[in-house]
Amino acid sequence: MKFFVDTADVDEIRDLAATGMVDGVTTNPSLVAKSGRDFMDVLKEICDIVPGPVSAEVTATEHETMLAEGRKLAEVAPNVTIKVPMTWDGLKTCKVLSGAGTQVNVTLCFSANQALLAAKAGATFISPFVGRLDDIGHDGMELISEIRTIYDNYPALVTQILVASIRTPMHLKQAALIGADVSTLPPDVLRKLAHHTLTDKGLAAFLADWQKTGQNIL
Ligand code: E4P
Repeated sequence: MKFFVDTADVDEIRDLAATGMVDGVTTNPSLVAKSGRDFMDVLKEICDIVPGPVSAEVTATEHETMLAEGRKLAEVAPNVTIKVPMTWDGLKTCKVLSGAGTQVNVTLCFSANQALLAAKAGATFISPFVGRLDDIGHDGMELISEIRTIYDNYPALVTQILVASIRTPMHLKQAALIGADVSTLPPDVLRKLAHHTLTDKGLAAFLADWQKTGQNIL
């Protein structure tokens, strides 16, 4: 499974990229606003740090303007993936951009039928938001299973399932068990994946015993 990091914080991305775990990045208008920085500057910097796909979202809602925004964002770097909302205008824009060889991420997906439409429009990635579904009492992971089944039923659909709105390490584990292609993780959730109380406890015991030997490796 590929890991993307879900942030527009360049320092976080640089730090996590050094672990070798970051295959790509997703941003959205809210994350850019949170960074307090110029969108184009941030996007360029992220693309220089991470060679994999970097999602940059259009903010227009009408097809022609979305297309113009998408083309402008795609000029920033070859690894920019254009994020469009799951609307008919977004799907039309997806069709044109993907037809021209630009990677497209269809975002704000909340149903299996929406995922099917995005795949037919040529999306590189579909982003189902599991956390926001859980928030309203639905089962976000059930949607991931449904999309996996549908895409597997039709091998001509090559869109990758990019699990978004991940809130906990449990979401990540379930997404991996289902066979999602990519998960985009907030930095704090990515960091939590390495943690286990027994790892900490075991390491402390090893170090205490090692100290008793009086030896040094270096
Ligand atoms: C994905 O591309 C989105 O940026 C993100 O995962 C949304 O997550 P949220 O529901 O926590 O805002």
